[in-house]
Amino acid sequence: MAKPAKTEQAPSQPASVQRPDAQRGPVMKFLAGPAKWADDRTGIGGITAGRIPNLFNLRKVFPDHWSFMLGEIALYSFIILLLSGAFLTLWFVPSMGEIEYDGSYQLLRGLQMSEAYASTLDITFDVRGGLLVRQIHHWGALLFVASMMIHAMRNFFTGAFRKPRELNWAIGATLLLLGMTEGFLGYSLPDDLLSGVGVRIIFGAVQSIPLIGSYLTSWFLGGAYPGDLLVPRMYMLHILLIPAVILALVAVHLILIFYNKHTQFPGQGRSEKNVVGYPFFPVYTAKAGGFLFIVGGVIVLMAAVFQINPLWVYGPYNPAEVSAGSQPDWYIGHIEGALRIIPNWEWHIGSTTWSWNIFIPGILGFVALPLALGVYPFLEKWVTGDDREHHVLDRPRNAPNRTAIGVAALSVYLVLMVGGANDVIATAFHLSLNSITIALRVLIFALPIATFIITKRICIGLQRAANERVLHGAESGVITRSPSGGYSESEKPITQGEAYTITQHRQYKPVEPGPETDDSGVRRKGTTKERARRPFTKWYFGQDEPKVSREDLAEAAHHHGHDDHDEENGHHQVEGDHDADRELTTGHH
Ligand code: HEM
Repeated sequence: MAKPAKTEQAPSQPASVQRPDAQRGPVMKFLAGPAKWADDRTGIGGITAGRIPNLFNLRKVFPDHWSFMLGEIALYSFIILLLSGAFLTLWFVPSMGEIEYDGSYQLLRGLQMSEAYASTLDITFDVRGGLLVRQIHHWGALLFVASMMIHAMRNFFTGAFRKPRELNWAIGATLLLLGMTEGFLGYSLPDDLLSGVGVRIIFGAVQSIPLIGSYLTSWFLGGAYPGDLLVPRMYMLHILLIPAVILALVAVHLILIFYNKHTQFPGQGRSEKNVVGYPFFPVYTAKAGGFLFIVGGVIVLMAAVFQINPLWVYGPYNPAEVSAGSQPDWYIGHIEGALRIIPNWEWHIGSTTWSWNIFIPGILGFVALPLALGVYPFLEKWVTGDDREHHVLDRPRNAPNRTAIGVAALSVYLVLMVGGANDVIATAFHLSLNSITIALRVLIFALPIATFIITKRICIGLQRAANERVLHGAESGVITRSPSGGYSESEKPITQGEAYTITQHRQYKPVEPGPETDDSGVRRKGTTKERARRPFTKWYFGQDEPKVSREDLAEAAHHHGHDDHDEENGHHQVEGDHDADRELTTGHH
């Protein structure tokens, strides 16, 4: 990591040379903090000084874990999207001009429709391989967003977003927002009845933005909805602008992974200062190359056997029609759900209408997920006061509050997804739509609280169980009867490696606010901030399960020693504990 070099100044030098700060203007002084922040995470300072980091180190070591392939799935499905999308552009006509359909799909012949819809029908029925490529493109898009989300979850639950990766995490959150937007635009291009209704909903949401909403939509559409510019403008965004931005951000994302190094899961021999794994070349290049074909193969297989978006069944878009039981693609499901379950909150002030019932789910709901992801590392850092670099991942149980927050957020997401299908659920299970909506309105508050508490208890329970294993060994399943008639289960020692993994993490304590004044009695800066942070940090770390200390181990060993001599009850833990003790010495921070 680039660190500013320390320079010793000779005392005879003039004051301005001794303190370069004094020569800086106010702008440079203001920028010094952010520049240092960026340099710590990207090495940008070194680059501007001509020290280019070696990003072409083909022997760079990457750690090995299946969950590190999730980001790769996102990458490869994006490549498949670019290739299949390029094929589709050859035939798709981005125009809302009305024509009479005369292609080979008999049921729609003679119908008036936009050129966009007609050309999609042509790709489907008249272009060789067209339907397959359309389905590859659609399944690829679904997988792209899904793999991004699961990849983000892996990074969240293991704390991979912590310093120095906050910037790369924020880039990831932006990619998620762009991926969802890109998917939605592509889905809307064919101008069929299903996607047309979705576009109408999103335009309604944009119109609900207080004060500027209606100006934004009429600027984008060149007039009233739907106009005849909608498809060409969405097309430009979908095939040019957004993919280009995604491509650029993916490149930066990957460069930063190289520069910051990849994190690794804790284990014997792994530390904050090393990376244990295989070299990029030849091992990872071969693995990654193979994996590209596997991901591509799976997408093609899905496209070949599972039908997706059969838009010839829906017919062309007509603002006066809507089909029942229609749902958007899965990654818009939570927005649809939020729109369906929110109460009718509307203000009428003078001649204006403020539709919070549309704005909150439609607009805030769209940006909420990437935004919450983007700011989380900074919030957590503020609460924990932890400014260290982290290259060894957290085991989710060792960060019970973070894990519980993540699961609680997922439960909200689940409630919203179910809300998006409330009509289908009502029909399939013969339930009242209103009852489902009311139940979901309650669950959206109750479920995250319940899942938070349960997850936290599970994490703490797992920590305790792990402590038990270190102190007393693993259950052997062998029940022994003593001469006096008592039964006990003997325990077998755990391996050094396991003991290390269980105990290597840092034990955090709530940050206590410092004294109000410094040694000279002058009021210290930042005390208000420290006091404000106190309840949060206490809450965050207050109930953490203390990890096994050397004293605990010695006591357990002593206890087991006695057991061995006095009762011969089959506990042979002492040797294992000694091993663990040795490891713990290196594992303690
Ligand atoms: C276009 C979408 C994306 C692509 C192609 C992509 C690709 C990758 C790849 C290949 C890796 C290395 C392997 C791995 O750790 O899985 C990675 C790491 C990472 N990604 Fe992504 N990613 C994308 C989106 C995201 C999102 C949505 C987030 C989070 C909001 C994110 C955050 C991160 C972080 C923090 C790392 C570093 C992980 C570590 O070192 O442990 N990425 N990404």
